[in-house]
Amino acid sequence: MAASPRLTSVTRDDSTHWYRLAMDSGYEGTYPYVWLRDNCRCSECFSPAVTQRKVKMGDTNPDIKPSSESIVADGKVLRITWPNQHLSEFDAAFLNRQRFSEMQKDAVSCPKRQSWGADLNGRIPTFDFQKLLQDDLELYNWLDVLNTKGLAVVKGAPAKKGTMLQLAEKVAYMKKTSYGDTCHIFSTPTAERLMYSHQALPLHVDQPYMDYAPGIEMLQCIQRVNVHGGESQFVDGMRLAEQLKEESPKAYYLLTTREVDFETRVTCYDWLKPFHMKKSRPTIQLDKHGEFQAINYDTSFRSPSMSQVPVGEVADIYGALKLLFDIMYRPENVVHYLLAEGEMATFDNRRLLHARTAFTISGEGGRLMECGYLDWDEARSRMRILQESLGL
Ligand SMILES: [Fe+2]
Ligand SMILES: [Zn+2]
Repeated sequence: MAASPRLTSVTRDDSTHWYRLAMDSGYEGTYPYVWLRDNCRCSECFSPAVTQRKVKMGDTNPDIKPSSESIVADGKVLRITWPNQHLSEFDAAFLNRQRFSEMQKDAVSCPKRQSWGADLNGRIPTFDFQKLLQDDLELYNWLDVLNTKGLAVVKGAPAKKGTMLQLAEKVAYMKKTSYGDTCHIFSTPTAERLMYSHQALPLHVDQPYMDYAPGIEMLQCIQRVNVHGGESQFVDGMRLAEQLKEESPKAYYLLTTREVDFETRVTCYDWLKPFHMKKSRPTIQLDKHGEFQAINYDTSFRSPSMSQVPVGEVADIYGALKLLFDIMYRPENVVHYLLAEGEMATFDNRRLLHARTAFTISGEGGRLMECGYLDWDEARSRMRILQESLGL
C-alpha cells in the first residue's frame, strides 16, 4: 500500500474562494472553501460510522471565507478555523481522494465491460457453488465477471428448490417480484403461457415492465429427466447495440430515443396475487455519456399501446426492432449452453438477452427450472465491501 500522503503547502485565494493544496506526491489540487466547510469531518458535522453529513444546507454560506489555515501533524492534517471559531481538520488522505481535477472513476460503478459474441461458446466463466459460499475472493470474482462480462455458470449446487437463496444471502438477499422470492418454470405441453410450455422462448430480458427491473438473474435447472432440447441461449445486448449503430444509424437513433411500452396483466393463476405492470423505456438505453447502459427487449410483453411514439414513426420503429431481431439471432452473436441438473446460469438481466429452445419429453420425464433475482445495488455494494475486506 502507498505511504499516506502529506501536505506540503496550502495557498489561499480569496478572489476565487478556494485553496490550492500541494502534496508530497507532486499532486496539486483546488479545494473550494464552501466545499471544505460542507465536508467538515468533526463529530458535530459528520457521523463517520454511517458516513452521514449533519451539516444543514440552510446553514451553508456559499461565500464563506476561512479565518485561518495551517498544516499540522507533520503534513497529515489541514486545520481550518472558520469565522465563528468552528474548527475543521481534514486528513491529507481524505483530501487526496477527493480530487476535483480528476474524474475519480469507481471500477465497481463504472466497470470496464467487455462485449462478446459466439466466441464465448465453450468458454463461459464457471464457478463452483460451494466455493462461492465459502470463499470471499471467489464470490468477488463471480460478481466481477457478472459486472464486466455479464454471464457465468455456477456448477456443483444441489438440484433442489431454494438453493439459490443461499447464494443470494452471500450477496444480500433475493429481489422479490410478483412471482415471489423465486419462480418455478415447470412445463406442460398445453400451457397457455409460453414460459410453461415446451415451445421455444425467444430472446428477451425478464420483467422490462417493472420500473426496478431485475438486475441479476439466476436460472437453475432443478430437474431434467428424459428431456430432449431445451437449451439456453444468451446474447450480449451491448454487442448488439454496437452492431446496430454500425449497420443502421437511423435504427440505432430510433431505438435509443423512442420509448417502447411494456405491459403485463396476470390474473389467471391461483398461486399469484393478480398484478398489472406497465413501463415505457427505450429498447437500447444509454447513459448520459451516450454509452450502452441496458437493453429492454421482450416481444412477448411489448404492449399494443405505443404511447411514446408519434403514429407516423410506428412503421419505422417496427423496422428498427425487426433489424435488431435479425442481428441478435446471427450465429456470430449467440452463445448456447445446456444446463444440467443442479447447474445455474447467472447473468446481467439489464445487459443480456436470454432464450430457450423448444424441447420434448419422453416417457416419465420432466423439466423444472427455478429462477430468481438479485439487484445490482446490492451486488455492487457487496463488491465494494469485499474489496475493502480483501484489500483489493
Ligand atoms: Fe426469462
Ligand atoms: Zn465541523
